[in-house]
This record gives sequence, C-alpha cells and structure tokens, in this order.
Amino acid sequence: MLRAIYPGSFDPVTYGHLDIIRRAAAVSDELIVGVLNNKAKIPLFSVEERVKMLCKATEDLGNVRIIPFEGLLIDFAKQMDAKVIVRGLRAITDFEYELQMAQTNRKLNEEVETLFMTTSLEYSYLSSTTVKEVASFGGDISQFVPEFVAKEVTEKIKEKRRV
Ligand code: PNS
Repeated sequence: MLRAIYPGSFDPVTYGHLDIIRRAAAVSDELIVGVLNNKAKIPLFSVEERVKMLCKATEDLGNVRIIPFEGLLIDFAKQMDAKVIVRGLRAITDFEYELQMAQTNRKLNEEVETLFMTTSLEYSYLSSTTVKEVASFGGDISQFVPEFVAKEVTEKIKEKRRV
C-alpha cells in the first residue's frame, strides 16, 4: 500500500497543482493532499476554504483525500503513515528550495522519501501567486484555475477590498 502526501498552500489550487494531483494519484494507492495552515502567513483563503475548493476540484478522484495540517510536514507524514512526499518541479528555479526542503525532511526522518514530478509543460509558468496578481488587476484567470475557483478568487478579492 503506497500512501503519498502532496503538500502545499494551495492558495488557491491551480491547474498546475491539479495536474500533479492527478498524476500522483495514478501512481499511488492513496494520495493525501496536505493543506498547510500556516499561522505565520495571511493567505487569501482560509484553510477551510482551500480544503473545500480542493475537495470539489478532485471529486472525481476516488483515492484522493484532502486534509489540513499545521506544523512540520514530516510529522504530518508520520501521523498519516505516509512514506512518500510528492512535490512538483516547474523549472530549475524551484530546485534549490525543493532540494533544501527535501534534504531537511530527510534529516528529520529518513524513512520518508521525497519524490519529484515534473509539472506538465503547459503549466510550468503557473503559480498561485501569479494567479492572485492577475486577478487583483482584473485579469482573466479562467485558463489558470477551474471556473468555480476563478469565481471564488474574484469574489474574495472584492470582499477584501471592501474591508
Ligand atoms: O505550496 P507551497 O507553499 O510551496 O508549499 C510549501 C510547503 C507547505 C510544502 C512547506 O512550506 C512545508 O512543508 N511547510 C511545513 C513546515 C515544514 O515542515 N517545514 C520544514 C521543511 S524544510
């Protein structure tokens, strides 16, 4: 039984994330998408909202569970009894940070392996940060995220501007 964890902030989930989720789910028995609740950062969406969007976007995948976590990823992996962490690599610029994270996690627990998947070329430029930036200036983000997510992003940005 191969249980893998695909961790991230998913603020919001993009087609790039969904590409990795689909492909990682296809090569594991169970894929847990770990949604970081980082108390040190102020995300656009609450962790509950991010979990809800991910659940909807992956509802056709029978072996995927969406679970929020706090603290160290390696502790979450142990708690979930997952032996594999999956991370997507978009470009060489991702490599340094990902290598540092993987090496640190391996030092913390060498029983958990980090596996990298290369993001499909069509999504290699995509990030949640750029999606939010485009949306904040009124740009069309429908080619970057599912339609219902695009709606949520637009509404959330409007809502934040009101307060
Ligand atoms: O989507 P992101 O923001 O690139 O995901 C980063 C994430 C959540 C994988 C990373 O920040 C993380 O694992 N945070 C949990 C804290 C942790 O374990 N840090 C030590 C790893 S060096």
